[in-house]
Amino acid sequence: MSKVAAAEKKHLFINGADVEAAEYAPLYSPYSGELIAEIAMADEKLTKDAIKSAQVGFQVISKTPSYQRAAILENVVKLLEERLDQAAEVISKESAKPISFARGEVSRTIETYKFAAEEAKRIHGETLPFDASPGGVGRIGYTLRKPIGVIGAITPFNFPMNLVAHKVGPAIASGNSIVLKPASQTPLSALYIAELFKEAGLPDGVLNVVTGSGSVVGEAIIRDDRVAMITFTGSPAVGIAIRNKAGLKRTTLELGSNAAVILDKDTNIDQIIDRCVMGAFSNQGQVCISLQRVYAHEDVYDQFVEKFAEAAKLLKIGDPLNPDTYISALISKKETERAAAWIEEAKQNGAKIAAGGNLTEDGVLEPTIITNVDPKQKVSCQEVFAPVVIVNKVGSVEEAIEYVNDSRYGLQAGVYTKNVDKALLASETLEVGAVMINDIPTFRVDHMPYGGVKESGTGREGIKYAVEEMTELKLVVWNRGDK
Ligand code: SIN
Repeated sequence: MSKVAAAEKKHLFINGADVEAAEYAPLYSPYSGELIAEIAMADEKLTKDAIKSAQVGFQVISKTPSYQRAAILENVVKLLEERLDQAAEVISKESAKPISFARGEVSRTIETYKFAAEEAKRIHGETLPFDASPGGVGRIGYTLRKPIGVIGAITPFNFPMNLVAHKVGPAIASGNSIVLKPASQTPLSALYIAELFKEAGLPDGVLNVVTGSGSVVGEAIIRDDRVAMITFTGSPAVGIAIRNKAGLKRTTLELGSNAAVILDKDTNIDQIIDRCVMGAFSNQGQVCISLQRVYAHEDVYDQFVEKFAEAAKLLKIGDPLNPDTYISALISKKETERAAAWIEEAKQNGAKIAAGGNLTEDGVLEPTIITNVDPKQKVSCQEVFAPVVIVNKVGSVEEAIEYVNDSRYGLQAGVYTKNVDKALLASETLEVGAVMINDIPTFRVDHMPYGGVKESGTGREGIKYAVEEMTELKLVVWNRGDK
């Protein structure tokens, strides 16, 4: 497999082969502006061809025994382990993810496919005690989990390899086929993985990658009756639009959040600074569970702000391919300008900048900490998706819980406390998909259930849970008697 050469043409991947499109669009590095590839822009017909190919692929993969599906996934794991550095470079170049974080993403992708390989072999049903009802006496029965068909996967730019794995891994583990539309800025990671699957022995047609615009390719996938399910990670606005158009298709929607952590008065600030830096600034804050809001008890507030700001100012900003870089460019100039405008708006409304707030000469937004922020400011109540975090003072954990819950979103939240009662209160009353006790909301390992409430989405990922979403429960009942 060759490295991505400048202006190399990248075609669609349909039925196990490269397929040319009528049009190609240039793909530029978000950091340097350098041209990195020319990407095929599929039209509706090519998208429909990919869905047809996936229908044929489904006939093959749904009849492939689970040990063989697991073996294919294990082969991908091996190939990716051998090519970790190369894969990380693909991610870093197209998304400006700093290379050390890109390597971390490839390691997570390897784990995700490992979990998928394991899960392929344990898609169990259960037996039912039919004689619990008088009408069921004489019957025995069990459930099976059957693959549902063609899965339409629409993936985001922020984890272009691992969030593809969270859709492709469970789909193949459970015997489904896929039409994948990667984010327009990060098609190369998805195409790279498709080639690995071919090398790993995946039958043609099971995985198809269709690059192009959301309004053409995404729309054609969402509206096509041959697609059984849409699994989408991205913004709430697009997620809601998908839900409205998807008809009776299943939908798993992993949407945004303005994730928060609560610091109780007994928090050891020195111990949590590195974790908070990672939570707020890794991948430039472009993470759905990025630490965006901190509610610190008044007893620890000043100490936290001072030490957090000190640490943020030390982060190295620059070229994503430099191994020392911690912060690089956001995915586009437009997103940088939006985040900068939100910071300015908060300042105009009384907030104070404790660190950052400016753009570097290269146009990179500095890691930014804002204090004293009115909850109505966009940096607080909307998903900022940038290296921007707010820190506000609270008088109690109870008050902080009210602020955390005063949100359209509910993906994950964290609380640092040594008080068991406060921890239990937080775990019971925080309106989110997952509560982290003594950790930031950014914690994720790839086999845990992951998903949110409110506008953060519906359904769960994490291989076992995604397999449940991608399979249909089928009941078989045997009548042993003659009634
Ligand atoms: C996301 O941004 O939705 C995924 C976060 C992660 O996998 O760590």
